[in-house]
Amino acid sequence: MLPEQNPYSPGSGRRPPELVGRQKELEAFDTLSARVGYGLGDRGIVLTGLRGVGKTVLLNEMHRRAEADDWLTVRLEARRDEQGAKTVRRALARELVVAARKLTRTSLTGRMKDALGTISSFNAKIGATSIELGVDISTGRADSGDVEVDLLELVEDVATALGEKRRGFALFVDEMQDLDAETMGALIAAQHAANQRDWPFYIVAAGLPNLPRVLTETRSYAERLFNYRPIGKLARDDAAYALREPAERLGAEYEPDALEQLLDATGGYPYFIQEFGQTAWDLAPERTITAADAAAAVSYGTDRLDAGFFRSRWERATKSERRMLFAMAADGEGPSPTAEVAHRMTLQPSSLGPYRAALISKGLVYAPEHGQIAYTVPGMAAYIDRHHDDLDVSGATD
Ligand SMILES: Nc1ncnc2c1ncn2[C@@H]1O[C@H](COP(=O)(O)OP(=O)(O)OP(=O)(O)O)[C@@H](O)[C@H]1O
Ligand SMILES: [Mg+2]
Repeated sequence: MLPEQNPYSPGSGRRPPELVGRQKELEAFDTLSARVGYGLGDRGIVLTGLRGVGKTVLLNEMHRRAEADDWLTVRLEARRDEQGAKTVRRALARELVVAARKLTRTSLTGRMKDALGTISSFNAKIGATSIELGVDISTGRADSGDVEVDLLELVEDVATALGEKRRGFALFVDEMQDLDAETMGALIAAQHAANQRDWPFYIVAAGLPNLPRVLTETRSYAERLFNYRPIGKLARDDAAYALREPAERLGAEYEPDALEQLLDATGGYPYFIQEFGQTAWDLAPERTITAADAAAAVSYGTDRLDAGFFRSRWERATKSERRMLFAMAADGEGPSPTAEVAHRMTLQPSSLGPYRAALISKGLVYAPEHGQIAYTVPGMAAYIDRHHDDLDVSGATD
């Protein structure tokens, strides 16, 4: 069928044609938002899951809803690099100023003016942007240089001003596990204070499955601060709907057997659904996607994923790190006990540390629990199995 009409959306953070199977998470956000409307408190939301399950898409949808409810929102993506802390704080200050500009259009209450002054002061200290908000800077508010103190003052002033109008203040943080420890601690502390004092400030975050652990290791009370929502593969019915519905809307359909084959190949993972759906559409000559079309799509789609999605990740690892990825594959989707992985590599567990750390910082593996390690991408073990012979890792050292 015509590629220019292809409805599927493989990619990072690309809104799918049908956002299926996430009603519970969206309801959790809608409840939070409704409670803010009543002046009531709630917890922030943390979405966790493997690569490609649809965390960013869901976070974006929650962000859209918050904007529609007239909240003051800031969207951030954490990054794990040397400049990480500085970059993310500058981004926070800049985005805040930009978001707050909208407020200047309405007639301002005294509290709101003060809040804008605090935002200006926070921004001036960090020196993120020269955009002005047309109010006096609140000297002595949010400008101590101590990120925890400053963030707390900022949240207090902004959230209480918005709370008067029954509006919320939210920070949408993607890849939160990559946030530097200091900023993470400051954000959790701000959420903690907000929860206790019923300020309508919420962190809505997304990250890898280790994020809840990182949060509680940073501040033990983080365990009770958030509504943790693990998201994963879609139930078979939902996955079937996600494949079928976009095609049917354009007058195309799947033979039942074709749909089953594709569902098996996707394993219910949203990213793979989009990828295989797109391939099946492109390979089908007629508006009915037959079993033969599906078989071709599974074969071609798998090759494409192997050459792109999986291979690019594999190549990010050094030779020694690849040995570790390889040794993990014996446990399938995992997790693997780190001691066992070291043993397979004929290494002492302590010698595994640097490889493990490097692979975590490259985003290829994560630690679900202490002493365990797992791939961040679904299907990595199967990829390694498929290419067992051409992924040479014997005796590699860097
Ligand atoms: N509920 C859903 N139904 C169908 N497709 C979806 C759904 N959610 C996301 N997708 C599709 O899955 C792909 C991955 O989505 P997204 O980038 O949000 O995942 P992610 O979890 O943020 O991945 P990463 O960890 O790599 O950032 C996109 O192509 C998106 O269109
Ligand atoms: Mg994402």
